[in-house]
Amino acid sequence: MGKPFVAGNWKMNTDSHSAVELAESIAGGSVSLAGEKVTVAVCPPFVYLRDVANSLHLSYVAVGAQDIYFESKGAFTGEISASMLKDVGCTYVLCGHSERRHVIGETEELVNKKVVAAISGGLLPILCVGELLSEREASQTEEVVTRHLKSGLAGLSDEKVLAVTVAYEPVWAIGTGRTATPQQAQQVHAFIRKLLNEMYDDQAAAEIRILYGGSVKPNNTADLMREKDIDGLLVGGASLNADDFLAIIQAAV
Ligand code: PGA
Repeated sequence: MGKPFVAGNWKMNTDSHSAVELAESIAGGSVSLAGEKVTVAVCPPFVYLRDVANSLHLSYVAVGAQDIYFESKGAFTGEISASMLKDVGCTYVLCGHSERRHVIGETEELVNKKVVAAISGGLLPILCVGELLSEREASQTEEVVTRHLKSGLAGLSDEKVLAVTVAYEPVWAIGTGRTATPQQAQQVHAFIRKLLNEMYDDQAAAEIRILYGGSVKPNNTADLMREKDIDGLLVGGASLNADDFLAIIQAAV
């Protein structure tokens, strides 16, 4: 496995003061690890991206956005383009997070356009995939993950797909305190790796990182990271507390 990757998704939380404070604590506490031993990124709300990026510019903690629009500019009220995200210091962008799919109503086609636009605009997309509880109970996990992965990556060449990180986030584990067991997560991660192998060349299938997300906490990180196909973590709630997020980074190394 390459360097682990830990990303924090702050969702619709923090304010202008606490966002910078949180970013600075994370940068300060991960000085000896971030960059060298682990890739770390934080994804604040759009309106705090610039301040957070400025406060992190001397650190190895990267900045990601939580969403993007696929058009480059024009009459798209409320939307944000890849070049705007680059302009304020973003490296990464989440695409197709389950809250965007299931709360906001994003379609698979839209998620794909976002992934493609992110790469064309020089950003590194983190494509989120994962099943609802009802889908898991109906034994449809592999079917849903296949659909999310194939539609999300549609049209990408072996070379372009290297920009992508995949995050497996079972929706029933997000914000519920009910983490997938390491075995449950590993099973789906191995399945995703197999799909990538079928879809792309050996290099892409081996190098694309697959993160797990869903109620990751300091006390379950090490067990999750021990699994062969878990290359990192996408952390929601616990990334809002600097001590918890730092403990997760530490345990992921
Ligand atoms: P959680 O969120 O860690 O709060 O479950 C994960 C996510 O939505 O990325």
